[in-house]
Amino acid sequence: MQGELLREDQLGSSESRLRPERLRTDCPILLSPRLVLRAPHEDDIDALSHLANNANIANMVSRMPHPYTAADAADFVRRTKIGGIGKCVYAITKADNGEFLGCAGVESHTDGVTAELGYWLGERHWNQGYATEAAQALTDMAFRTRDIEFIDARCRVTNVASRRVIQKCGFQFQGTGMVQCLALKAAVAAEWYRLDRKTWMSLRSWGGMA
Ligand SMILES: CC(C)(COP(=O)(O)OP(=O)(O)OC[C@H]1O[C@@H](n2cnc3c(N)ncnc32)[C@H](O)[C@@H]1OP(=O)(O)O)[C@@H](O)C(=O)NCCC(=O)NCCS
Repeated sequence: MQGELLREDQLGSSESRLRPERLRTDCPILLSPRLVLRAPHEDDIDALSHLANNANIANMVSRMPHPYTAADAADFVRRTKIGGIGKCVYAITKADNGEFLGCAGVESHTDGVTAELGYWLGERHWNQGYATEAAQALTDMAFRTRDIEFIDARCRVTNVASRRVIQKCGFQFQGTGMVQCLALKAAVAAEWYRLDRKTWMSLRSWGGMA
C-alpha cells in the first residue's frame, strides 16, 4: 500500500504525471506536511462526537445534525465504511500524534466531470492552516486520480473562513444560490466556487497556491 500514498515529494511536476491514469487508487491515504488524511474508524468516535457537537460547525455545513451525539458519530463512521455518505470521506488527523481534527471529503457528481469538496475542523483547531492544507491535498488527489475537469466548493455567504480556504486553493467564484442546512432546518444563502483542471495545473506549476 505504501506505493499508493500520495506525497508531494513522490510526484513530479511534469504535466504527464498529473494525469489520472498514473494513479489508480480512488481514495488513497493522503499525507501533507502536518496532516494524514485517512478513512474514519471507530477510534475516532469520541473525538468526532466531541468536536462535531458545535453549532458553529453544524450551521456552516449542509448535513450535520445538531446536537451531535456519540450515536451520530458511530452512525457516521459506520456509513462511511459502506459508502453511505460518499465514496471518499476522510478523517483529518495530525501527522505527529494522530490526533483527530475533523473531516473532509471529495465526492464525484453523476455528471462524470465534477467533484464537490467539503470539510470541517473542530473549533479549537481553526486558524492554523489545517483546512487549507487538507483541501489542497484532497484537490491534488482528486485531479490526479479521477478523470474530472472541475472541483466545486460551496460556503455560506457568512462563512469568511471557508471562503478564504477556497480562495487560497485557487477556486474561482461562480455564483450564489440557496443550499439546505440540516442543523438549521432551513435553506441558507451560499456562494459557489469552482477550480478547473487547467487552472489547477497552472497553479501547481507556478507554485501559486498558498
Ligand atoms: C472553515 C474552516 C474549515 C476553516 O478551517 P481553518 O483550518 O481555520 O482554515 P485555515 O486556517 O486553513 O484558513 C482560514 C483562513 O480564514 C481566515 N479567517 C478566519 N476567520 C476569519 C474572520 N472572521 N475574518 C477574516 N478572515 C478569517 C484566516 O485568517 C485564514 O486566512 P489566512 O490564512 O489568509 O490568514 C473552519 O473554520 C470550520 O470548520 N468551520 C465550520 C465548518 C465549516 O465552515 N466548514 C466549511 C463549510 S463550506
